[in-house]
Amino acid sequence: MAHIRSRFAGKVVIVTGGGDGIGKGISLLLGEEGAAVVVIDINDDAGHAVVEQIRAADGTASFFHCDIGLESDIIAMVGAVVAACGGVDILVNNAGIHLTKGTLETTLDEWERCIAVDLRGVWLCTKYCAPAMQARGGGAVVNISSVQGVQTQVNFTAYGAAKAGVIGMTRNMALDLAPAIRVNCILPGYIWTPLYDRWLSRQQDPEGTHKAVQELQPLKRIGLPVDVAQACLFLASDESSWITGTTLTIDGGLTARLHN
Ligand SMILES: NC(=O)c1ccc[n+]([C@@H]2O[C@H](COP(=O)([O-])OP(=O)(O)OC[C@H]3O[C@@H](n4cnc5c(N)ncnc54)[C@H](O)[C@@H]3O)[C@@H](O)[C@H]2O)c1
Repeated sequence: MAHIRSRFAGKVVIVTGGGDGIGKGISLLLGEEGAAVVVIDINDDAGHAVVEQIRAADGTASFFHCDIGLESDIIAMVGAVVAACGGVDILVNNAGIHLTKGTLETTLDEWERCIAVDLRGVWLCTKYCAPAMQARGGGAVVNISSVQGVQTQVNFTAYGAAKAGVIGMTRNMALDLAPAIRVNCILPGYIWTPLYDRWLSRQQDPEGTHKAVQELQPLKRIGLPVDVAQACLFLASDESSWITGTTLTIDGGLTARLHN
């Protein structure tokens, strides 16, 4: 029998994009720490698989289909979660999509979808979850942005704009929702997830690029979902009860360097 700890006992935690990658890592750790984990995803098979994994380890979890790029999906999802779980205590705005296109090549449709998921979805999920959190006396929101929100490279126009927007919006939300709800933001660097694998597969020499990425990190390894999950749980827990409106970079030291 697995040992479930009680750090998040009695807490209902929504993790958007919880079916894979960083969101899966956050969901699994929350399950081990005693939360009632609500996995949100557009990939139903992946979401159900994470729920089964948490339950198999004696944790508590449920899955709700929701495309965070659609306001109607978010409204329906929050209503269904409140009805099924009795409320919401913590929201992890993790779901996001990559768009590796430049200023000239990005189409209007691509721009709209990237911003709808990566920026507007963070706002709408928070807007519709916040009243449920306030009704339970307060809570915490953790937004997953990216180092691309502060430093960037070619071909990240919409993604970089969305991720920079999430950092700015975190500060506004922290003020708007204080004192009941704390809002903080994580900036991951290179994290080994299906998103990273898809990006790697588009490079001319995926194996060589992977080695170069590892070498680029001052800590000489790529990050893992659990590296982000540990930080996320800190910002979601009462251990960070006097921290709001801030950002935490989890990048193995990548953005500390100006150049070699
Ligand atoms: N992997 C990295 O190197 C990295 C670095 C910096 C920031 N991030 C950010 O971390 C977050 C998670 O990235 P990841 O690498 O785990 O991605 P991923 O593609 O590996 O997994 C994302 C999950 O979100 C789900 N999802 C995608 N669009 C959705 C939508 N519209 N509604 C609901 N669910 C949706 C996917 O189905 C998938 O299960 C994203 O916001 C991403 O921008 C990732």
